[in-house]
Amino acid sequence: MKRVQLAAVEAGFLHHNLVLLADKDRLDVLDSLLAPGESAFLRQAAAQEVSSFSFPRADGIVFVRILKPEKDPYIALEDTRLAGNELLAEIRRYKIETLGIQNCCTENRALAFAEGLALGSYQFLKYFTKPAEKNLLEIRLGPDTATPEVIAEANTLLEAVFLSRDLVNEPHSHFNAVQFGEAVEKAAQEWGFEAEIMGKEKIEALKMGGILAVNQASQIPPRFCVLEWKPAHAKNTKPVVLIGKGVVYDTGGLSLKPSESMDYMKCDMAGAATVIGALAVAAKTNLPVHLVGLIPVTDNKIGENALAPGDVITMGSGKTVEVVNTDAEGRIILADALHYAKKYEPSLAFDIATLTGSAVRALGTQVICYMGTAPKSVKSTLEESGFATYERLVELPLWKEFGDELKSNIADLKNLGSSNAGMITAGKFLENFVDYPWLHLDIAGPAYLRTANGYRTKEGTGVGVRLLYNFLKKNYL
Ligand code: BES
Ligand code: ZN
Ligand code: ZN
Repeated sequence: MKRVQLAAVEAGFLHHNLVLLADKDRLDVLDSLLAPGESAFLRQAAAQEVSSFSFPRADGIVFVRILKPEKDPYIALEDTRLAGNELLAEIRRYKIETLGIQNCCTENRALAFAEGLALGSYQFLKYFTKPAEKNLLEIRLGPDTATPEVIAEANTLLEAVFLSRDLVNEPHSHFNAVQFGEAVEKAAQEWGFEAEIMGKEKIEALKMGGILAVNQASQIPPRFCVLEWKPAHAKNTKPVVLIGKGVVYDTGGLSLKPSESMDYMKCDMAGAATVIGALAVAAKTNLPVHLVGLIPVTDNKIGENALAPGDVITMGSGKTVEVVNTDAEGRIILADALHYAKKYEPSLAFDIATLTGSAVRALGTQVICYMGTAPKSVKSTLEESGFATYERLVELPLWKEFGDELKSNIADLKNLGSSNAGMITAGKFLENFVDYPWLHLDIAGPAYLRTANGYRTKEGTGVGVRLLYNFLKKNYL
């Protein structure tokens, strides 16, 4: 299916279907672009708080969007993305395929408007038997709003978000661990990063007991994917490592999930999809940062060989874990990947995971819960990137008392704490397997939505791709 793209055009070639973006207190800028009758009508309606207008013309439609004044630049950006997304209903109603955006605001809002419109226009229609309806395909921007380079970069980032969403949206029936590995190989070829897909023998040779234990009941062997983007001009000598939870389907295992929290568990590889999206955009934009992506991939199924609550397993690091609940499987496979990451001596490592229901219960679907051992300065840069991309984060404490809950009677650790602060004890569990600056991003809330929220379309949102790209640019350019 063809997806929307931004296009750089010469001034004057915007299109017959045109959006004019204006500040509420500068409506005069529109006068030269509208007919006198339209201008008069707009002024009168704007005085009564009307902010969106459509003027049909002989050769297309002119949409006017009046944007509210907003002091906070990040909220202003987000309001503009949302305004872009809101235009979609009309675009679809008129079956418009090509649209120009002209900025008449003091600040240049065209790119953010285009971003919201493009992100919101995403659809996953692969499994419908009827052909897709006409879709918005091209958003044109003139040279006064964005250079061709900026537009190319924005397109790459959009495509990476769409890639990440596509991977999450694939149902488990069509996307098991082996197919996941193949998808990584395909993405590596298309986007220009390296990928090695390890099979079960290699995973056994590496003694990744966590991944093997979670995979124990599965008909499908696990995978361990190593992705790498290593440009000659990298600004970092030691890599930034991105680790993604790749549970292609989470039934909970013998600690079986109830049906209402299982039907969407294809999304449990969203962290892995974010890592792939981040490597993809870094490679295509030639980002001067050495990146390594590590993705443990398996389903979490039941069967006669299944891992059982109470079992003790030996992890890749040699530590033993009492598995008191097989539904807390993400931390088990991530621990092996976090341990494996030590060999890179990362300058910084992220793990990104749909890890806990308690993160969702505490902070909902708008927020990434994060915690970690990285320096304060890194955390504040990340939080700033969170506001800039509106993939916002809230930090939670890794105080040692939370770790006390993971003491086991018969092994080094158990995989679950009490029913309180589950997202923190999950983080504490992971902390046992790192010896480098590390950040844990629990995206269980924002990774998957049952219904759309603004330009965050329903199902996979691709959360984290825009955030990580923004952060890497901020930190390394
Ligand atoms: N995959 C789930 C977490 C999840 C919840 C992801 C909601 C996406 C949306 C994870 O493996 C899990 O099952 N966590 C459990 C652990 C439980 C044993 C306490 C949880 O947090 O609910
Ligand atoms: Zn689980
Ligand atoms: Zn899970």
